[in-house]
Amino acid sequence: MTNSTKVTLAAAMTGRKLQHQMQSVRANKHAVNRDLVARKATGVHAPFYYHIHLYMPCNQKCIMCVPNGRHPKDLIPFPQFEAFFDQIKSHAEHITLIGGETLMYPWMEEVIDLLAEHKLAVTISTNGTMLTEKLIGKLLTLRELNLRCSIDAATAETYHKIRGTDWFERVTRNFRLFSEMASDYPAIRQIMVYVVMKANLHEVLAFVELAKEFSPHQIQFHPVRHVTGWSVENGTGWTFNGSEQSCESFKDDYNAAIRQAARKCGSAGISHEVMIMK
Ligand SMILES: C[S@@+](CC[C@H](N)C(=O)[O-])C[C@H]1O[C@@H](n2cnc3c(N)ncnc32)[C@H](O)[C@@H]1O
Ligand code: SF4
Repeated sequence: MTNSTKVTLAAAMTGRKLQHQMQSVRANKHAVNRDLVARKATGVHAPFYYHIHLYMPCNQKCIMCVPNGRHPKDLIPFPQFEAFFDQIKSHAEHITLIGGETLMYPWMEEVIDLLAEHKLAVTISTNGTMLTEKLIGKLLTLRELNLRCSIDAATAETYHKIRGTDWFERVTRNFRLFSEMASDYPAIRQIMVYVVMKANLHEVLAFVELAKEFSPHQIQFHPVRHVTGWSVENGTGWTFNGSEQSCESFKDDYNAAIRQAARKCGSAGISHEVMIMK
């Protein structure tokens, strides 16, 4: 199913559910939560959270994602996004936009303008390569934003190895700029995201040090997922063996490094999200 189809279906479903939409975002949300607690098989109230795959193309070749760089071409045409948003805007509380590289979406500024008119929280995942001063200025118009910034490395060498591009300086500069420009906006939050695998485990502490520069709202360390059995390359001169790189295969070392990273975040007063493996 293409992403445009997914949105069309979601829009149609939302349209059907609108007849059960409550008068306000809050009332609607309570109704949805009541249905969940009651374990009702079919919810009749409109959803308050939406996760939208806006744009599938991307400019990187991350070893744990699309290492050959052959990203799907699907995107949601802007008029379709507008029509979808029109159906959900009265009851949506939180929208997550994801890609591909989300900020490469050709109508990103128009999307931000549309979302900025409404009282809702927006989460955007990005690799940071397209963050310009102009785009950051736009992002600051949102009422509430969680900008999830992916790096996965504390050095240019490891960044290149994992993300397949030589853009460590570029993205750290962009994230620094975002941090400076957003400093007076308490509802605009920068969340640094580090996907952990064997090849970058040794840099988790250095990453906490680096991330301090961005005064982040939070640092998240996530173990790499769904790569067991992979044997792939991204053109940077190494072969990624998914079974060896998965954190389950070096669980004790992973847990020790992540606990240390969590302690380092704690002593620096940085909120953090980590997963300890059982
Ligand atoms: C698919 S990307 C899309 C947004 C943007 N291009 C970026 O890199 O943040 C969303 C998040 O998924 C993470 N990710 C990609 N492949 C993963 C994997 N195999 N396991 C865990 N996280 C992964 C990325 O590092 C990123 O933080
Ligand atoms: S930048 Fe994001 S979408 Fe692109 S390959 Fe990397 S993780 Fe995947």
